[in-house]
Amino acid sequence: MAGAVSLTGEERRVPDVAQAFAELVAEEGPLSIALSGGGTARACYELLATAPVEWEEVEVFFGDERWVPIHDPDSNEGMARIAFLDEVEPRVIHSMKGAGDTPAEAAARYDELLREEPPLGLVHLGLGPDGHTASLFPGSPALDERERLVVATGDGQHPYERLTVTYAALARASLVVFTVAGAEKRAALDAVRNGHDVPAARVRARRVVWLVDEAAAGPAYRGPRRRRSGP
Ligand code: 6PG
Repeated sequence: MAGAVSLTGEERRVPDVAQAFAELVAEEGPLSIALSGGGTARACYELLATAPVEWEEVEVFFGDERWVPIHDPDSNEGMARIAFLDEVEPRVIHSMKGAGDTPAEAAARYDELLREEPPLGLVHLGLGPDGHTASLFPGSPALDERERLVVATGDGQHPYERLTVTYAALARASLVVFTVAGAEKRAALDAVRNGHDVPAARVRARRVVWLVDEAAAGPAYRGPRRRRSGP
C-alpha cells in the first residue's frame, strides 16, 4: 500500500552512526532510555561507555528482547551489559527477560511497568533489511496492537520468541532515534522513504530522528528531508 506512510521525523546523514548516536544521547541527556538489539546497537553502546552522560540519573529499559538467558550471546540485555551497562552502572536496569517466567507474563509485567513510569525519554531503534524495527516484524499481529505497550511475539524468520514494545508504546516516547548503517539497509530505508508500509515506517513519536550513514543513505540521496508538522 505505497504512499500510505512515509519517513517520519528528521533524517540526518552522518559519517559514523555510532559516534552520532553517542553524541545525541549526551546532548539530549534523557532520564530514561530504551535499548535495542543487533550489531549496529552494539557499536553504539560500546561508544556510550565513554560518552559524557550522568548514568547514575538514568533508568534503562529495553525496546525488545529475545527469550534467551541474559548470559546468552543473543540476549539484547546481555549485549548491552557487556558493551557499557556493567561499566557505567545506571540508576536502574529494567530487565525485559527478568520481568517474568514466560514471554506472556514478562510482556504483561513490562507493560505495567511502562504505564507506571513517565514516558520514555529516548527509545533507540534499529532497522532490519526487511524493514522491521524492535521485534515488530512484517506481517506480525504485533503490528496491529493498539492497547498493549509490550507484547510477546515471534515469527518463523527471526530466531527466538521475543518481547517487543508496540507502536502504542513508541507513540508515548519523547524521542525515538533510529540508527541505520550499511549498504544492506539501503533498500529498507528507501522503502520507508518512498512510502512503503514496512514496520519501521509506522513508528510515530513526539520526535523521531534517523541517523543514517552514507552506505545506507545511498548516492542518490539529496540530503535530509524534514517532515512538516501540522496542517
Ligand atoms: C533485535 C533488534 C532488531 C535490530 C535490527 C537491526 O533484537 O534483533 O532489536 O530490531 O535492531 O534487526 O539489527 P542490525 O543492526 O544487527 O542489522
